[in-house]
Amino acid sequence: MSSTLFRTKKVEQSILDTEEPEHALKKSLSALDLTVFGVGVIIGTGIFVLTGTVAKNNAGPAVALAFVVAGVVCALAALCYAEFASTLPVAGSAYTFSYASLGELPAWIIGWDLVLEFALGTAVVAVGWSGYIASLLDNAGWHLPAALGSRDAADGFGFDILAAALVLLLTVILVLGMKLSARITSLVVAVKVTVVLVVIVAGAFFIKGDNYDPFIPKAQEVEAGGGLDSPLIQLMFGWAPSNFGVMGIFTAASVVFFAFIGFDVVATAAEETKDPQRAMPRGILGSLLICTTLYVAVSVVVTGMQHYSQLSVDAPLADAFKATGHPWYAGFISFGAAVGLTTVCMILLLGQTRVFFAMSRDGLLPRFFSRVHPRFQTPHRPTILLGVIIAVVAGFTPLSELAELVNIGTLFAFVIVAVGVVILRRTRPDLPRSFRTPWVPVLPILSVGASLWLMLNLPAETWVRFGGWMLLGVVVYFLYGRSHSRLGQQLKAMAGAVPPPSGPSGSSGASGRDTE
Ligand code: ALA
Repeated sequence: MSSTLFRTKKVEQSILDTEEPEHALKKSLSALDLTVFGVGVIIGTGIFVLTGTVAKNNAGPAVALAFVVAGVVCALAALCYAEFASTLPVAGSAYTFSYASLGELPAWIIGWDLVLEFALGTAVVAVGWSGYIASLLDNAGWHLPAALGSRDAADGFGFDILAAALVLLLTVILVLGMKLSARITSLVVAVKVTVVLVVIVAGAFFIKGDNYDPFIPKAQEVEAGGGLDSPLIQLMFGWAPSNFGVMGIFTAASVVFFAFIGFDVVATAAEETKDPQRAMPRGILGSLLICTTLYVAVSVVVTGMQHYSQLSVDAPLADAFKATGHPWYAGFISFGAAVGLTTVCMILLLGQTRVFFAMSRDGLLPRFFSRVHPRFQTPHRPTILLGVIIAVVAGFTPLSELAELVNIGTLFAFVIVAVGVVILRRTRPDLPRSFRTPWVPVLPILSVGASLWLMLNLPAETWVRFGGWMLLGVVVYFLYGRSHSRLGQQLKAMAGAVPPPSGPSGSSGASGRDTE
């Protein structure tokens, strides 16, 4: 049995699968498109919203250091992702990578994990977007009924109608085609980067040196010690739960990590990329570098403009300008943030549907979902299904707990990818790799350690929820995926151990199973 759980899909087969006409995505993206995609998804709720929360509650001005820590963790993972993505230019990101290196069960687990990351990430960003839009509407004198606004603010029943509407609208755009969404993305990314640069350049004139004193506030004990809401590491070692200080920087890093999520989405678009061997590493590392630089600059400026204890938690960048008496800048920033969050939401939704598509193409989820649309050449079925589910989740769920769950899921994916790089180097040293992770296995080991460290700094309750979701995934795999796996059926047919499946086998067998 263990041999079937760890059966691996040949790299060549993964690439061949993408060439089946009915299941092939259009190859239209360049390195520049990918970088724009990366920046488009990376800069979002993390910098626009979480900076304030984390500076106020965990790190003070040292939030800038938290961004550096999270950026380093992501850079280590990015170097592993880049090798995998340039070797295996196939939809599905870490899922595809682990199918080729670690085997089917680990691949399933990672695919299931990515579904969590992207689906909940989309919901989180949609809710953040809705907050900014509601605040802009408020400025114009229009007020939404509380029951149709943010779930964090509402008492009793409520549905965040703006967040749900955004997800549904983006679903339609994605069904209509990749190129259309890439064009819209470029425009919106330009607006978003402009807003971030305005914050840095204009804000620099309002910095007061006193606000940086102390840069790393002294550690303060917090009361709620011992509860599941404390970071797991504090519970494990029986430390008194505290905020600020050096440990506060790591707690902050495990939260602002959300601000970096998305560079891995660039890898999920590999199959739709022209010359992925060169474009993927450039797209991934380029977008990560640009964003880390901007984040550090923004957080230094904002904590210099306003004392960290005064920062707003809803719209810290805009409110810091209001506090210095410049409401016009604040309005401009709110508008840009709302526009920018749109692309983040769209690209996370895109990454989500592509992982689902890849899992379905392999038969681990029903093959019905991996038929691309005859005219738009997009995986319209998973896009519509997931779009509707995410719209409902975004409508009904508050933001904060979801964000932590997204972070733990993503860090877990980083661990698997780093392990996968080492394994694939050993099992398939022959594969052409246009980008090679430096210092293997030292760098992947460092990547695993760094990701685990941030995971341990997340609340224990996040671990419990994550465990529950993964357990459900294992059950689904044993009830459905294992017996429907296309790889498993091909291996069985080849071995002649059992009669071949009733549909045609091999690459053309895809359509025969579509109605399952
Ligand atoms: N990195 C993205 C954000 O901060 C997901 O919104």
